[in-house]
Amino acid sequence: MSTHNARGVALRAAAVGLGVGGLAFRRFGSRAVLAGAGLGAAAALYGGAVERRWYTLRHDTLPLLRPGAARPLRILHISDLHWIPGQHHRLDFVRGCLDTAPDLIVSCGDSLEHPDAIDPIVALHADLAAVAPVAMVLGSHDYWGPAYRSPIWYFVEQGKKVYGRRLDTPRLLRGLEAGGVLVLDNRRAEVKTGAGLVDIAGLGDPHSRADLPARIDWRPPGDRIVLRLGLVHAPYLRALDVFDHHGFDLALSGHTHGGQIRIPGVGAVVANCDLPLRAARGTSRHGADLWVHVSAGLGHSRYAPIRFACRPEASVLDIVPGAA
Ligand SMILES: [Fe+2]
Repeated sequence: MSTHNARGVALRAAAVGLGVGGLAFRRFGSRAVLAGAGLGAAAALYGGAVERRWYTLRHDTLPLLRPGAARPLRILHISDLHWIPGQHHRLDFVRGCLDTAPDLIVSCGDSLEHPDAIDPIVALHADLAAVAPVAMVLGSHDYWGPAYRSPIWYFVEQGKKVYGRRLDTPRLLRGLEAGGVLVLDNRRAEVKTGAGLVDIAGLGDPHSRADLPARIDWRPPGDRIVLRLGLVHAPYLRALDVFDHHGFDLALSGHTHGGQIRIPGVGAVVANCDLPLRAARGTSRHGADLWVHVSAGLGHSRYAPIRFACRPEASVLDIVPGAA
């Protein structure tokens, strides 16, 4: 989105805030209402014009490395680019993340937000794959374009999906494959990294009921595996249960956008799946022995161009030996 358009979006968001505030003021005649509306308009202006492109790197160290690794394993985890033509700042940020020298790159889907996003997204992932192995799973936005849905429905009817027009996913997949990206929807592979072999299983997106664990051969891996990694776009509990049940060490996901708009001191108010809100961003534990890291993602819905108290992010995860 151009700077001009970004300003336009922010101004529209601020105007909405002011408009609601004005109506409330006429209705209630309260200075408190007017002050609240002003704060809301300022927050919308900031979230639309500043924070949604104020990218950050989240760093975490996880003691999950199995014996035999050559060295600690560094994973760069990106998700939810929701890319629209013009958003070069987002691609530039991701390419800049390569400075962290990852051993493995994981991309957790919802890369597209426009039919013309396919070529730039393919080019970005090919650039990543030139530096380190890239494993990926798709999200619903890689199959369907955006469709307008009032934000209120995220609270009222969380499981409801609204799909836009069908995207050319086969072309996306052909481009990713040609660029050396390993797309692992309902597949499993051993991936060679600088630290050692990583056993990676991916599930299709549970949000659109594309998770088909029965298609995967879940037999135990060989001794040389240094990490067992599960990938799924939307961290529904049934998907995390699958990874936990089969003895995986860590699951990586996106989808939640960390709430996209968080209330300072409270956190996320919506996760858009059945994951507990406290786990909607960052690292948590699930089931018997699974660690989970959920990225708050890099983008936002085309129809909600704002982020507040939830900066767009990529994650750098250093996987180090566990306590003996
Ligand atoms: Fe998303």
